[in-house]
Amino acid sequence: MFPEFFSMFLRKQTAPIPCSFDRDRSSKNKKPLLNPYLTYNSFLVLSLLLWFLLLYICFPTTIHTKPNDFHRQTRNSPNRTPHLRPTCSGGPYVYVYDLPAEFNTALLQDCHRLSVYTDMCPHVENRGLGRRLSSSDNSWFATHQFIAEMIFHARMENHPCRTRDPHVAKLFYVPFYGGLHASSKFREPNITERDALAVRLVDYVQAQPTWWKNNGRDHFLALGRTAWDFMRSNANGPDFGANCLLNLNAVQNMSVLTVERNPWAGSNQFGIPYASYFHPYTSAEMVTWQNKMTQSNRPHLFTFIGAPRKGLEKAAIRDDIIRQCDMSSKCRLINCRGEQADLCYDPAQVLKIMSQSEFCLQAPGDSFTRRSTFDSILAGCIPVFFSPHTAYTQYLWYLPATATDYSVHIDEKGDGRMRIEEELLKIPREKVKKMRERVVKLIPNVTYKHPNATDFELMDAVDVALAALSKRMARGADMSL
Ligand SMILES: *[C@@H]1O[C@H](CO)[C@@H](O)[C@H](O)[C@H]1NC(C)=O
Ligand SMILES: *[C@@H]1O[C@H](CO)[C@@H](O)[C@H](O)[C@H]1NC(C)=O
Ligand SMILES: *[C@@H]1O[C@H](CO)[C@@H](O)[C@H](O)[C@H]1NC(C)=O
Ligand SMILES: *[C@@H]1O[C@H](CO)[C@@H](O)[C@H](O)[C@H]1NC(C)=O
Repeated sequence: MFPEFFSMFLRKQTAPIPCSFDRDRSSKNKKPLLNPYLTYNSFLVLSLLLWFLLLYICFPTTIHTKPNDFHRQTRNSPNRTPHLRPTCSGGPYVYVYDLPAEFNTALLQDCHRLSVYTDMCPHVENRGLGRRLSSSDNSWFATHQFIAEMIFHARMENHPCRTRDPHVAKLFYVPFYGGLHASSKFREPNITERDALAVRLVDYVQAQPTWWKNNGRDHFLALGRTAWDFMRSNANGPDFGANCLLNLNAVQNMSVLTVERNPWAGSNQFGIPYASYFHPYTSAEMVTWQNKMTQSNRPHLFTFIGAPRKGLEKAAIRDDIIRQCDMSSKCRLINCRGEQADLCYDPAQVLKIMSQSEFCLQAPGDSFTRRSTFDSILAGCIPVFFSPHTAYTQYLWYLPATATDYSVHIDEKGDGRMRIEEELLKIPREKVKKMRERVVKLIPNVTYKHPNATDFELMDAVDVALAALSKRMARGADMSL
């Protein structure tokens, strides 16, 4: 027992707490501790711990950990208040593949060229959270809209349900930065070149014995870009630069988490939230923010922050919205192609404007979904959707089944789209208040908490995904897609 316990203690210093430790502990607690042998053991363990503590105080550098980490662990030791310690309470044990660097971290070395549109270097900082919005605040970041895959990875590496033992794992996470890679190849004309890394990835996972235990059904990917970027169609249509990752046979057997699923051909795809700007360390921070948004004064009935899109049928509604908003005294319009365009790229301004509005219009843009939907939830602003595919067919794990509880749907082809203000004014004040309360309650579930968060006992976006994947695995029916 000693060497085992001691090695666990040592392991805890350098690695996230393994789940098996939680299980051992809970079963141990149930045993009556009257056995004298056990008491003797406990005494020895305690002495050992004390000795260890002494060692630590005298030679802190001999243990590769920071003081903060140590305090966290002592505070969370079984003798103290256990609720402060992140535990894997009932969650599935997840094995995180240690992939060859070419599939994730090595991609970041060339961050200037990770996107054909923009320099990603500032955005991949802080494990994908991006740069801090202010030096005095640790929980707000200028997070890029297509970076959820990096944050997911950082969260999983530190997750209490992470296990290093594949035999214990219920789920297997393949931390491929597929979105970053895809966006670096959008202009690659050679299809073989464009697909090469995805092909190598499936070769790699299929070479693992862990894959064949369930033919990959218990494996999942998390992608920060839309499914369309990984589903190149074979038809001779226009080429938007997509690769073929999600069309590969092996990937069909996996669960694919993505910020936008293909509603028609994505039965193994599941919507996860776009990352917004708030990545809190503690539940207290989260609750404070929720209260602030509940109480926020909202002088504007509705807001639209966005740009017109030329020649895109999907986004035709944007022209109507911009025109109506411009004419209404009750609407605050921020046209991202207009004079106030700078505001669109300033997270603090975006949230401020949304927190001063009752409703936030979420028109489809380049694709059906928008990061803005999650900014608006974070700001307690009730989202107004014009297509069911902007949220209702996407984020089933995250949003209430009854859409009217937290959102408004104005059919982009119906009459209502020509009189948005009138439609919104029809909703009774009392109902609006209830909807807002519902929206504010959703914030924790759609937020990516800080990967190093400590006292955060609420579920966040990653926890919700793991719980849902675990349920899916438990329902045998889904294993045979
Ligand atoms: C979390 O903490 C570790 C250890 O202190 C640090 O190396 C890492 O950068 C932190 N993560 C983030 C996202 O700041
Ligand atoms: C595309 O790339 C592959 C692999 O690098 C190469 O073998 C092939 O010749 C290239 N095709 C063309 C048309 O350049
Ligand atoms: C996918 O799962 C099926 C069984 O459902 C299995 O026969 C097949 O080999 C798996 N494909 C891969 C690439 O692992
Ligand atoms: C958050 O997600 C969990 C897990 O799916 C769910 O039980 C809970 O009801 C959700 N919370 C809200 C406010 O929707």
